[in-house]
Amino acid sequence: MTILITGATGLIGQNLVKSLYKKNQTQNKKDKIRLLIRKRTGSPFREKFIQWVTQNGVEIYWGDLKSTPDVLNFTKTEDPEKTVLFHCGAIFNFYQPFQTLYDTNVAGTTRVLRGFHVNNIKKLVYVSSVAVYGSLHHSNGRGVTEDQPIDCNQRKSYEQTKSLGEELVWNYSKKFPERLITLLRPSGIVGGQGVTSDIFARMFFGRYVPLPGGGSEKISLVDVQDVVRALIYFSDFNIGNGEAFNLVSFTPTLREFIFELGLVMNQENVKILSIPLGVFKPLLYISKIIRAFVKPKENSLFLPILFDKLGQEVWIDNSKIVNHGFYPKSTLSESMYNFQQFLIQNPWYAEEKFSIAL
Ligand SMILES: NC(=O)c1ccc[n+]([C@@H]2O[C@H](COP(=O)([O-])OP(=O)(O)OC[C@H]3O[C@@H](n4cnc5c(N)ncnc54)[C@H](OP(=O)(O)O)[C@@H]3O)[C@@H](O)[C@H]2O)c1
Repeated sequence: MTILITGATGLIGQNLVKSLYKKNQTQNKKDKIRLLIRKRTGSPFREKFIQWVTQNGVEIYWGDLKSTPDVLNFTKTEDPEKTVLFHCGAIFNFYQPFQTLYDTNVAGTTRVLRGFHVNNIKKLVYVSSVAVYGSLHHSNGRGVTEDQPIDCNQRKSYEQTKSLGEELVWNYSKKFPERLITLLRPSGIVGGQGVTSDIFARMFFGRYVPLPGGGSEKISLVDVQDVVRALIYFSDFNIGNGEAFNLVSFTPTLREFIFELGLVMNQENVKILSIPLGVFKPLLYISKIIRAFVKPKENSLFLPILFDKLGQEVWIDNSKIVNHGFYPKSTLSESMYNFQQFLIQNPWYAEEKFSIAL
């Protein structure tokens, strides 16, 4: 079997590659693994991963999702009938302009679909997101299911590009229903480096964390190891074709999550400052005005998305994937423990990512 992975250097990608490599070793399998990685200077953690990949004989195809020839060559394999393509590559970022995100998340997906098509790859597992559902303000006491239509007209750039990318996949799938495609929609991913954990970590002012309404709303999160297990589960040619699946490991209240994250950040006595929900609406407008004039830095706290989402009871229903036979198994504590280990091994990370700018 041949396994192709885009986004290999990212949070999902690195964990997926390591898991597949381990599977090859422990189960004496001979699956070929090929990664699409763009040439650029990245964090020490990224460089270390690339070094590990090279040392362990995993194949790298140096290329960019913004280049059609790169993607077409990357997806050319000797055994397309036994090949699975995991498309995890995207710009996951709430700060960059729409067009930058579009070129990779939408146009890049068009290229991946083209490579999948012309090179007759057997199966595509596409990593979408629960962001495709748009700005839901409450779940009406029930979780959001896959029946909720995706919202391609939403105005937030990242979310919109994920919806447009997913729409392309559905259009292709309708046109070629015989092609095997599974779409996975993870909720916020924790358990390692990444934007979801970073945003919450930035809300700590020492041991104080201001939360709308005291953080009593539920939030849906998934541990990266569960994402990896789900991807591997759906790489089976006979499972989940033509379907989309939400993916959640745990749904704590925001308050519970902050307490667990506090332990990771060496803050045992976290004090939640309960801010009335009404205060967050003005903050949303202020953040929009600031953003109109000041380009956000990667660690800006005045993010419209943050003020728009906090304090809202929107959680994601996981039952479809469970009924399909996939059971997430990570717990919040395990996930936070793994994040802590990551921070210990990468001391530069917290300093760089958890500081706050306007
Ligand atoms: N993290 C979450 O909470 C979350 C939740 C739901 C869905 N998702 C989705 O899950 C997928 C993976 O997310 P992640 O958290 O692993 O993100 P990540 O850590 O930011 O990784 C993104 C990956 O995509 C690669 N990439 C970006 N632009 C590229 C380009 N032009 N050409 C080639 N590669 C490119 C990055 O490579 P470089 O190292 O070169 O930058 C990196 O390997 C994305 O589709 C994201 O939308 C994430």
